[in-house]
Amino acid sequence: MLVDSHCHLDRLDLTPYSGDFSGVIEHAHAAGLGRMLCVSINLADYVAMRQLVEAWMEIDVSVGVHPNEGETAAATEAELLALGADPRVVAIGETGLDYHWQDCPVAVQQERFRAHIRAARALQKPLIVHCRDASEDTLRILREENAGSVGGVFHCFTGDWAEASQALDQNFLISFSGIVTFKNARVLQDVARRVPRDRYLIETDAPYLAPAPMRGKPNYPAYVAHVADFIAGLQGVSVARVAEESAANYYDLFKPRH
Ligand code: NI
Repeated sequence: MLVDSHCHLDRLDLTPYSGDFSGVIEHAHAAGLGRMLCVSINLADYVAMRQLVEAWMEIDVSVGVHPNEGETAAATEAELLALGADPRVVAIGETGLDYHWQDCPVAVQQERFRAHIRAARALQKPLIVHCRDASEDTLRILREENAGSVGGVFHCFTGDWAEASQALDQNFLISFSGIVTFKNARVLQDVARRVPRDRYLIETDAPYLAPAPMRGKPNYPAYVAHVADFIAGLQGVSVARVAEESAANYYDLFKPRH
């Protein structure tokens, strides 16, 4: 069974499915997916996202505000606690720091990140961390807030092995998206070869970042099969093994209750 550990199901292009969301899920099942984690980007869209996936118990959800969301997309610890208490919510995020785009002032990003970590600790649910050009501050804030006590995942990881080691040391898993399949991703491919077998996940981040051979096209959860296939090739193991291990790692981390 394949698991897509990170996708944005409320943002997919449904044109190829005649606007029918259930077509996306059928396509995912046909590709061997048994579970998906639908990740929240802001609280304004959260209720609609949660309703969209309500009928599919194999879809877990997270609640949080993406670091690229502007200053007005606030999330207090109290709001996160209220929404995060839902049993379908298996994680808090995506949260973190993005110094590449800086759509939101750094100080605001950091404060919002800390609120997410505190909520995750209070709820005892893991964190989904987005980190771009900000690894030093991300790792420092995780340490200062004792985020390792709940752990989580560095999603769509793009760093090198030194950075991966520090994330692993703080009780975080490494998740590989379609970026690992890109020709220029040598440093990241090295991380995929070295990561411990019980410490990695795979994801699509759909609708973004479609893996080769779909690069540049709209992305869907079904394409996580291409990520699994590519990682199996890098590691010299069967794709079935990558599917099984990454699925087991997903259940260990997120502990879905149903
Ligand atoms: Ni994402």
